[in-house]
Amino acid sequence: MSSESPLLPILQAEIRARGPIPFARFMELCLYHPEHGYYSSERVKLGAAGDFYTSAHVAPVFARMMGRHWERLWHALGCPPKFDLLELGPGDGSFARELLAWVRDRFPPFFAALRYTAIERSSRLRRQVQETLQDFAGQAKIVEDSSAVVPTTDTEGIYGCVFANEFFDALPAHLLVWRDIRWRERFVGLDGERLVWMETELSSSDLVSQAELCFDPSLPPKERPDGWGAEVRPSAGEWMKRIGDCLKRGEVLIVDYGYTLEEWRGGRFPGGSALAYRRHQVVEDLLAHPGDQDLTAHVNFTELVEAGKACGLRLKHLESQARFLISVGEPDEFADVFANCQSEAERLRRAQLLKTLILPQGMGEAFRVLRMEK
Ligand SMILES: C[S@@+](CC[C@H](N)C(=O)[O-])C[C@H]1O[C@@H](n2cnc3c(N)ncnc32)[C@H](O)[C@@H]1O
Repeated sequence: MSSESPLLPILQAEIRARGPIPFARFMELCLYHPEHGYYSSERVKLGAAGDFYTSAHVAPVFARMMGRHWERLWHALGCPPKFDLLELGPGDGSFARELLAWVRDRFPPFFAALRYTAIERSSRLRRQVQETLQDFAGQAKIVEDSSAVVPTTDTEGIYGCVFANEFFDALPAHLLVWRDIRWRERFVGLDGERLVWMETELSSSDLVSQAELCFDPSLPPKERPDGWGAEVRPSAGEWMKRIGDCLKRGEVLIVDYGYTLEEWRGGRFPGGSALAYRRHQVVEDLLAHPGDQDLTAHVNFTELVEAGKACGLRLKHLESQARFLISVGEPDEFADVFANCQSEAERLRRAQLLKTLILPQGMGEAFRVLRMEK
């Protein structure tokens, strides 16, 4: 663990004052502490110079394909004069810049209708996105997260699409363990100056109902395997409710790595799915480098689907990123991806990027696309 982390004394002080903290609180501070959180501090996190890539960094391929998808959705909605695109957690805004520039050049009538809004929690990233999108100031805005605000171009709600790429996996998760025929929760405590794991009573009994879903309901408690994990992310369901309520017509499109409850029950993640990333490497120790490594856990897509249905969204597709992108690109043989190539080398580079997004050993199978509609 790095003793240089400026977040470490803050964590130590909180644990000394309050006692051990749930992992969800640890994750919250490590990622979003306003000064020293992973997404707040200045070091570059996303892309080649950072800790991990997302599809958004596979430029220009991903943005072009998404542009095509939304242009088709706009047509399917009857070419309304206003199409809202609300992005949750835009990161550094590179995806939005690629997307807006491509749509402006390729689909002018759709561009005239497009209103892009991003909700970003980190003030540093909000500033960065603002700068990145300055050429689109009339059509793009970036707002701070606030559950009181539905950030649309008007107050009537969203007509268009709510989009989230690797947003849900970055929301804090509680880690639970089935131990001695009851649920326990993993907390972070202190041994002297050192951060250590502890297993104690649950921080809230509200976590039980979600955790119970991680077992096959027909399995009697005594037969459940000791040490089985569950990950509970209360804010995921809250976000689905919020976006489901404010979407009036159109689609919610979520891209992330994740699982269905059926897969979890089948033992896909016997030790849980929470991971840390630093400089493109998986770090086993989630408590290392607080504030200086990404913390993430896979997304429970079954939970998102059920929460969406509860607020009036219909399930359209839950499929691999590969299947989704193939369905977008196949009708015109991926013409968008290869448009305006200046050289054969550039063509080859784009073909390589497309493969990264689609092939199973790239992002094609690990990532899934959930689409729900109203
Ligand atoms: C893993 S990054 C993904 C960034 C980007 N979508 C991409 O694919 O490169 C997660 C992003 O979600 C943002 N975020 C997390 N929680 C948020 C919240 N409650 N409201 C708004 N943004 C949030 C983070 O600050 C970060 O920009």
